[in-house]
Amino acid sequence: MPPSAGAAPADLRISAVDDGVVTITIARPEARNALRHQTMIELADAITAADRDEAVRCIVLAGGEKAFAAGADIAEMIALDGPALEQHPRTEAWRRIWASGCPMVAAVEGLALGGGCELVLSCDIAIAGSGARFGQPEITLGWMPGAGGTQRLARSAGKSVAMQLVLTGDPIDAAAALRSGMVSEMVAAGDALARATAIARRIASQPRAATRLARHAVLLAFETPLADGVQAEQASFRALASSDERHRRMRAFLERPR
Ligand code: HXC
Repeated sequence: MPPSAGAAPADLRISAVDDGVVTITIARPEARNALRHQTMIELADAITAADRDEAVRCIVLAGGEKAFAAGADIAEMIALDGPALEQHPRTEAWRRIWASGCPMVAAVEGLALGGGCELVLSCDIAIAGSGARFGQPEITLGWMPGAGGTQRLARSAGKSVAMQLVLTGDPIDAAAALRSGMVSEMVAAGDALARATAIARRIASQPRAATRLARHAVLLAFETPLADGVQAEQASFRALASSDERHRRMRAFLERPR
């Protein structure tokens, strides 16, 4: 059952907005943050609410010390066959997460497996503690990634790494994830949240409309032919050229004290 409107989430901790950043933490450590249906719906609700809140300019998505998230909750997923999955609110929850226009930075410590790895891949930037491990173990269950993992992994890490993760089910460590491009920085174990928050604050200090349009343009690189992507980029570039914020910031640069 989806949580009732306004009810405190059971599986998440959601921070107050601080300097334009909201931190959403998956907090179900007893199950290694396995993504049960309720977790997915709460995540989609929290991300959608942050996306709609003008005061939020960047989201940090974090997990626990041992696990960012160990994947979909196998105890629940075993009951869902193909038709049930198609209708299920958790499938819609993933779509709602992907529909958000708000930049999102993942802070990964411990395991990011299956749907947990796909959640990291759904973020715009990922920072890993040195003890983090990333994997798509679904194949060992006779299954396969089903939340965009095959597509986003191939796009961010390349074909060979994606095939290795998806076909063997074996995880890779944070250093390998860094080399592959799945994450942009590796920091000391325990420091991922602090570093992700610093990056999120930096993003949040930039004009909201510009960050959202620029993010959207980068995401188009994974979806469109080059010429179409460049055309879309230039449309956003021109739209921002007419904004007061751009004039104000450029004027401030030209008139800075020297
Ligand atoms: C349900 C899980 C779980 C999961 C861990 N737990 N992962 N429960 N679903 N994915 C639970 C365990 O049952 C256990 O509960 C508790 O968390 C601690 O786990 P342990 O195994 O005792 O801990 P540890 O030895 O540290 O091993 C952690 C682990 C292992 C490596 C993460 O639990 C594991 O391999 N889990 C399965 C990972 C996986 O296959 N993920 C992919 C799921 S499929 P109790 O009650 O016994 O204490 C998927 C499809 C995505 O993600 C599709 C998207 C649409």
